[in-house]
Amino acid sequence: MGGRLTVTEQITTGDFVAFISYLNLLTWPMMAMGWVTNLVQRGAACMRRINRILEEVPEIRDPSPGVSASRIRGEISIRGLTLRHPGQRTDVLRDICLGIHPGETVAVVGPVGCGKTTLLSVIPRILDPPPGTVFIDGNDIRDIPLGVLRAHIGFVTQEVFIFSDTIRNNVLFGGRDVPPETLTAALRAADILEYVESLDKGPDTLIGERGVTLSGGQRQRLTIARALIHHPEILVLDDALSMVDNRTEERILGRILAMRGRSTNLIVSHRPSTIHRAHRVLVMEKGRIVEEGRPEELLEAGGHYARLYEEHLLRMELEM
Ligand SMILES: Nc1ncnc2c1ncn2[C@@H]1O[C@H](COP(=O)(O)OP(=O)(O)OP(=O)(O)O)[C@@H](O)[C@H]1O
Ligand SMILES: [Mg+2]
Repeated sequence: MGGRLTVTEQITTGDFVAFISYLNLLTWPMMAMGWVTNLVQRGAACMRRINRILEEVPEIRDPSPGVSASRIRGEISIRGLTLRHPGQRTDVLRDICLGIHPGETVAVVGPVGCGKTTLLSVIPRILDPPPGTVFIDGNDIRDIPLGVLRAHIGFVTQEVFIFSDTIRNNVLFGGRDVPPETLTAALRAADILEYVESLDKGPDTLIGERGVTLSGGQRQRLTIARALIHHPEILVLDDALSMVDNRTEERILGRILAMRGRSTNLIVSHRPSTIHRAHRVLVMEKGRIVEEGRPEELLEAGGHYARLYEEHLLRMELEM
């Protein structure tokens, strides 16, 4: 077309060359425009999805007036707690009544699925109990600001969460920075200090994809250090030492109990050696507390706990 116009001298050769050059100059901006439009569209779609999450209102919210508690002593009282998981047909916890004094160490035992984790999850309000059932220091936990409540409870869950970050950041878990000796003390109590110090970069070593890989027991111990570092008034260990051997478990528990003084400890464990360090044992079955007392007393009484104990011994023998 351009060629014909040039031949018939309707346009000059210069015009033709200029036209082709302009056309070439236009190609790149046109491509860029398409690319940018595509990018904007994709960004908008992603933003919509992110906003949906950001705008989600948490089900467990801060109380509106709330009590002005800024500290927690660690007295727990549960009155007639019955709880059902959303979408389930039966109650997981049935009419639980319980009083725990500050400084007491309580072991919770029972068969798989009896509701131990559910009961413990109520204390930091991971699961919300009905109003008027769970009290800390005499205040309904639904009236205690979530920030205060959770800052004073150390919760080591059955599932271990470790992030692809440094050991220090994994232990601090986004909390306030601490002096190095506090970090060292928490790592020592969790019996992982020696290992951390054996690494080239110590607590600044990266864990995960770009760093060292930790064993199950080491990961568990790191999460215990995470719970201990801010000296919580209430410490909950939900089967938190299942992946370490008996001797290490003894050592860790000894250190934890020694450093925790007047704080309240709630421990779920299957090992009699651990359970026997508690002041009191709660035996659960199908969502109820069926037995309660000092470990030696319960063994002598020959009830549920004595049966669990014997089963455990039998299993140990079979495994050996
Ligand atoms: N989020 C949930 N939604 C529905 N049901 C649940 C949920 N979590 C637990 N359950 C059910 O509640 C019951 C009690 O579970 P829970 O985790 O409290 O048991 P557990 O005593 O801690 O057991 P384990 O010794 O295995 O840790 C189980 O039957 C379980 O299937
Ligand atoms: Mg559990």
